[in-house]
Order: sequence, then structure tokens, then C-alpha cells
Amino acid sequence: MVRPTLPTSHLVMASALLLVSAVQPGQTQQQALDQGLHSLFVASGKLFFGTAIDTNNFDDTAYQTIATNKNEFGLYVPENSQKWGPIEPTQGQFRFANPDSVEAQAQNNDQIFRCHALAWHSQLPSFIANGTWTRPLLIAALQSHITIVMTHYKSRCYSWDVVNEALNDNGTLRDSVFLRVLGTDYLPLSFAAAAAADPSAKLYYNDFNLETIPAKADGAVRLVKLIQAAGVRIDGIGFQAHLTVGGTPSQAKLAATLNRFVALGLEVTLSELDIAHNKLPASARAVEQQAKDYVTAVGACLSVPKCVGITVWQFTDKYSWIPSTFPGKGDACLFTANFTKKPAYTAVARCIDSGGCASGDDVAI
Ligand code: G3I
Repeated sequence: MVRPTLPTSHLVMASALLLVSAVQPGQTQQQALDQGLHSLFVASGKLFFGTAIDTNNFDDTAYQTIATNKNEFGLYVPENSQKWGPIEPTQGQFRFANPDSVEAQAQNNDQIFRCHALAWHSQLPSFIANGTWTRPLLIAALQSHITIVMTHYKSRCYSWDVVNEALNDNGTLRDSVFLRVLGTDYLPLSFAAAAAADPSAKLYYNDFNLETIPAKADGAVRLVKLIQAAGVRIDGIGFQAHLTVGGTPSQAKLAATLNRFVALGLEVTLSELDIAHNKLPASARAVEQQAKDYVTAVGACLSVPKCVGITVWQFTDKYSWIPSTFPGKGDACLFTANFTKKPAYTAVARCIDSGGCASGDDVAI
């Protein structure tokens, strides 16, 4: 069965922002705000407002009620199941069942599918991480992984995170089996294999802290230029945007950073947005600041025409990755663990509906 990459409704992507309220005739302002973040974002000229999700959340009915509402989240990315470890735990043996289920649910709900991640130092299977590699053998394993996985999802992924988190915060390349054995060649090699496997998928470099650490953004610019100089296709940069309350850069600064990559001919996206409280329980003031910070991040994307959309890294605190990785921090999502919309949700809906999110500081919570 040939399945289209995108639902027809998403195929027309406005390149310019339509700065109009999404309120329709006969609709109240509240009804406009309740129509869902994806609907609001699409009405603002963007392609998607999506969420990370995976099959371990599928039996939670309250979760699924929100996750399957395409007006709320118009795109899915599998949070874990497409990574190298889960998908090819043993060399040459692939487990597609879980990511296939995520993709099937996206198809059933007319949602876009974003794919994550191919060459990454983390969540690697032992045969890669602990193998003794020669250059030709590792090139063959990397190319084979990329080719087989991308061919399985051919023309079904809006984009692929081809290389993920290859940089240290100081902008140098991060130590990994790929860098040790292949040097910088693994970057163009990965993108070239991806371009050959699925010409229709947008090919992304994806990383965190690009928003907040200029030296790391400098490193990403060098990385893009290295791939482009090799004559290999790269289409976009995923700014993961794992931010902290009170630590979100201004809208102007964030937009300027996004535009550094637009200037290189790329599209950009906020690919894993969440904004964590440093201290829990969050004070009323911190809850308000979180709402402002979300508005700032969403506003930056809105202000950059080549920012195609935003994906949150889970929409509920119930399944956020943060507390287990950073104990004592969290409550970073738009919905509480009980699936109640937070002030951040309402502020984001209002700012998208008003068509601009001029600045987080201007938003009435
Ligand atoms: O699936 C196993 C399960 O079988 C086992 O019993 C359990 C015991 O620990 O572990 C389960 O695997 C966990 C997996 O999430 C699925 O829940 C791993 O231990 C855990 O490390 C893994 O964490 C994920 C993390 O990536 C790994 O690096 C998070 O859920 C996921 O949100 C996070 O996502 C990353 C993006 O891919 C890249 N950017 C940063 C982002 C946050 O770290």
C-alpha cells in the first residue's frame, strides 16, 4: 500500500505568516482558543504543532484522547522506538513493530510523521557502541542502518533527524564511535546515505542548547557548511529547545539564531520543546514565567517564515523524560500529569491566535 507522506491538508505550506486571528464567523474568542494548537498554528501559516509519543503511552485512554486529536497535535515523532538501539538491537535484525504502530496511529488521524534518529552517540546497540570497528566495516554498518530504516519508512516521514547531537556545548565535535573511527566524514556519509534512501524526506541535523549557547550554534554552522561543502543535501536544523523556566532567550535572540541557519538555505523547527522548572513545586510566579517562556519560544518560530513548525517532547508531565534525568526538576510540559491545560497552554494558544506573540513579556496570562 502506498501511503502519502503528508495529508493533503498539510501539503500547502504558506511561506509567509498570515497575521490574522483564527476566530471564524459565529465563533467566540474562547472557541477559537479551544480549537487546538495545531489548528491555530496552521491558521498562522505553519505546517505543524506536534508531539513526541510512543507505544508505551498507547494504553492510557486519557492520554490518547488528546494525542489523537489532530487539531491539538498534527504531527507525531516516536520518542524512542526509531532510535538505533530499539530498532536494530542486533546487527541486521530490525524491529519495526513499535514505530510502525506510531506511524499507523498518525496515518489514522491524518497526522504528519517526523522521524528520529539515525546517527546518534546515545541509545546505540551494544554491537555498535562496543564493537571493534575498521573504517570500511563501520561505514558499511552506518550506511546499511540508514538505508534499511529509511527505506522501510520511504515517503512516509516528513523529515528524518539524520545526525543527532554531534556537538559538544563548546561547538567542537562530540566523542563517539563514529567520530573516532570515521572522523568528520561520518557527517556527509550519513546525509548522503539518507538522501539516497528517501529523496522525499527532509534531512535534518538535530541538537540541544543551540538556542542558548552561541559557541554551540557556531559549531552547528560549521557542521552544516562541512556537509554542504561535500556536495551533500541537508535541509533543516532541529532546535530541540529543552529550555528552563527563566532561562529562555529573548524572542529576538532566538529568532536571530534560527535565522543564522535560514541564511544557509535551511528550514528550521523547534523539535523537542519543553520548558522545565528548576525547583518543584513551582511557585505561582514560576508558572507565570513558564507561560511567558513558552510564548517567547513559539513567538520566535512564528516570526521566522522558514520555521516550519514546533514539536513538544511529550505534552503531559506524566510522561516527561525530565524528572528521571534531572531529579527535582520538571513540570515542563503544556499539560499537567492529570491532563489539565496549564497557563502556558492558554498563553500559547492566545499568542498564536493573535498572530504574533510579540514577546512573552507582553502576554496576559
Ligand atoms: O525500554 C526500556 C525498558 O525495557 C526498561 O525496562 C527500562 C528500564 O530503565 O528502560 C527502558 O528504556 C528507557 C527508554 O527511555 C524508554 O522509556 C531508557 O532507559 C531511557 O534512557 C530512555 O530515555 C530516553 C532518552 O532520550 C534516552 O537518551 C527518553 O525517554 C527520551 O525522551 C529521550 O529523548 C531525547 C531525544 O531522543 C534526543 N534529544 C534529547 C531527548 C531528551 O533526553
